[in-house]
Amino acid sequence: MRAVRNFLQLRDLSPNELEYIFERTRIIKDRFKSYQQYWPLQDRTLVMLFEKQSTRTRLSFEAGMHQLGGTAIYVNTRDSQLGRGEAVEDAAQVISRMCDLVMIRTFEQTMVERFAANSRVPVINGLTNEYHPCQILADIYTYIEKRGPIKGKTVAWIGDSNNVCNTWLQAAALLDFELNVSSPPGFEVAPEQVDACGASQVRSFADPRDAARGAHLVTTDVWTSMGFEAENAARMRAFENWQVDAAKMALAADDALFMHCLPAHRGEEVSADVIDGEQSVVWDEAENRLHTQKALMEFLLLDRVND
Ligand code: CP
Ligand code: NVA
Repeated sequence: MRAVRNFLQLRDLSPNELEYIFERTRIIKDRFKSYQQYWPLQDRTLVMLFEKQSTRTRLSFEAGMHQLGGTAIYVNTRDSQLGRGEAVEDAAQVISRMCDLVMIRTFEQTMVERFAANSRVPVINGLTNEYHPCQILADIYTYIEKRGPIKGKTVAWIGDSNNVCNTWLQAAALLDFELNVSSPPGFEVAPEQVDACGASQVRSFADPRDAARGAHLVTTDVWTSMGFEAENAARMRAFENWQVDAAKMALAADDALFMHCLPAHRGEEVSADVIDGEQSVVWDEAENRLHTQKALMEFLLLDRVND
């Protein structure tokens, strides 16, 4: 039997495994779109632990597990003993004896690591303060679907150096594309995140327009992530010139795409004409959370399949 595989960071999967998951995503999505029943996870149970809010992550995992023939159980940590201080290690021991797979959305990355270290079943990071690997699976699949291989292309990240940005850094190293990053002073990407992923693909720009220049994909995220609400007013001032607007998109490649993990704030990190414009693929990107995570769950539970 192979060892339990977790997905706590994007780099928990090798480039070859990522390619496999993108290929399985295409097959699973095609089947779903043509109403073919595909139940490889019949009788399997996913437990989803949420310590932060969610629309896309909850629905895509819950619907995805049902569509693969399994069952998903939603747990808000506030309603569980975790919310009253039960040790993460103890919760992991118990929860992982009752299900086949666990997905966790929480604050500290160390919480998902502690859980995984005590879990009998695979653990998926559904967003922490540090990383959002499921989002980048969907984003890169969406790029490939629209434009072909991402290898050698240039992605521009304009905005906060947050969990989504940190995961893009890992993606650039794993899948060999260039990543231009621009964040306001004081909010720049942490050097240890760049070092950890292989700095050669990552370039930092003080001026967000320079990051956008020539990019094949321009992407951003909220200026204030969940858990950082106390910094909101300061962030609004600091990020003022980092809005992805039509002027910045005009500097990117002619066929550049715009992505945003959502939820978005029009008039803050992105202008309405960009997110609602022709280059934006945000709805396909959100939908692809469903398909990529189905392929991820299949891989974590069944390894490679030929079906
Ligand atoms: N993009 C994303 O993870 O959305 P939710 O917060 O709605 O899950
Ligand atoms: N960076 C955002 C992503 C939300 C899906 C946050 O952590 O709140």
